[in-house]
Parts: sequence; structure tokens; C-alpha cells
Amino acid sequence: MSDDTRPWPQAGRERMILPSPIGRIGTGAHDPEAELVASMDDQHVFMMGDNPALPRMPEKPTLLDFYRYRFGAITVRHLLGAAKRALDDGRSDHVVMACLLHDISNGCLLRPDHGYWGAQLVAPYVDPEVAWAIKYHQALRYVPDAAVGYRYPESYHRFFGPDYQVPAYLQRDAEYARNHPWYMTARLVTLYDIYFFDDTAQEVNPDFFEALVARNFRQPAEGLGHDDSPSSHMWRTMIWPNNFL
Ligand SMILES: [Fe+2]
Ligand SMILES: [Fe+2]
Repeated sequence: MSDDTRPWPQAGRERMILPSPIGRIGTGAHDPEAELVASMDDQHVFMMGDNPALPRMPEKPTLLDFYRYRFGAITVRHLLGAAKRALDDGRSDHVVMACLLHDISNGCLLRPDHGYWGAQLVAPYVDPEVAWAIKYHQALRYVPDAAVGYRYPESYHRFFGPDYQVPAYLQRDAEYARNHPWYMTARLVTLYDIYFFDDTAQEVNPDFFEALVARNFRQPAEGLGHDDSPSSHMWRTMIWPNNFL
């Protein structure tokens, strides 16, 4: 990236960032919108485009560039670890891909309903079975399946408390998934979806999955976010997460 000579946008002015409300409301964090709007002048504008505080994305970003330059370290380690476990067990490309992608929404976009958001992100680019498995892994994580040795995750007791009640929509969607022909694809994602609080055991580089991604992800020639698929705007939001609009 060091040979990147593209100029930074809005040069010479302070670029103010107004955090997206979805990550702020309810947290007690101050809403700075009023004072930031009041401080606009010819030296202060709202940020639009590349933020120098973030690694700069290539002009034509690939899927794995988001692992390299945008997703948080915990998410990257978790996704690469899940995919590696599936691969080591000899699972199909669809299962390994679904493992590699299952939590990408957590990486840089949205945590709530991450399975649903993640499925929409990748749906234009992957086999429908892969997107389906990503969508339904979220609900199936709460549902044991003794036949394949899947139990309610110990980590969820710690995340949510032992008395957490699974909401009705997740129970409904898990029941739907259980009776679907692709059930086992999503179920296998939950089997390899092991969250270690101190998971440093398996260091995997995103490059390791280049060939798998080349076979199973229809990378747009313009770059993710710069094509015109139904989810391009979601990838752009991760490229420019601090845009005012
Ligand atoms: Fe997940
Ligand atoms: Fe996960």
C-alpha cells in the first residue's frame, strides 16, 4: 500500500466524524450532532471518503481485503479458525466458505442479527446454499442437536447469562432451518463456530483461503462496493464507515 499516491479527500480541512446512531444510541455516549453541525465552516466539514485513521482499501477491494484492512482482529481469527477446522475435517467448499463468512457482519458492519446481515452481504456473490447457511447459523447456535454432538454454547451462558431466553423469531427460524434440505450446511457452521475467549492457538493468514475464495466467490471486476449488486452499499459502508451520508 506504500506506493498508493491517491490524495486524501477534503484536503486542508478538518473532517468531522458523526458516529452512526446504531452504534451509539442506548450506550450513554454523548450525541455530538448538534455541536458538530454548529461548528461547520470553511475549515470544518463532515468526513466523506477515505479516513486516514483506517488502512486504505485498494481501489478494487476483494473479499479478503476486508479481512486484511477492515475486520477486527477477533473476528478475523474466529472466521479463519472456523474455516480451517472445517477444511481439516474434509468438509465441502460450501461448508468451508460458510464458515469463513459466517460472522463477517460482526467484523465491521453490525452485530445485531449478524447472520441475516452477513447473508445479505454475500448473497450476490456466493452459492445460495452458502448464504442460507450464514443466515440460519445465527438461530441454530441456540438449538442443540445431539445427533451431531452440538450443545448450547458455554460461551452463550457467559455472554448472555444462564437465564437468557431465545426470542421467538430465532426459535421460529431455527425450526424452519431444521426441516430444510440445507440444514446440515448451517448446522456444520455451528459445529465449527467455536468461540475461545483466549483463542490464540491457531494463527491463519487470510491468504491461505485465496484458492477457496477464487472458486466460490464471484469477485466483481470493479471491486466489492464499486459494483452495482443489491449489497454493494453495505460493502461501501465498510470501506467508508465514517461517511456523514
Ligand atoms: Fe455467528
Ligand atoms: Fe461465529
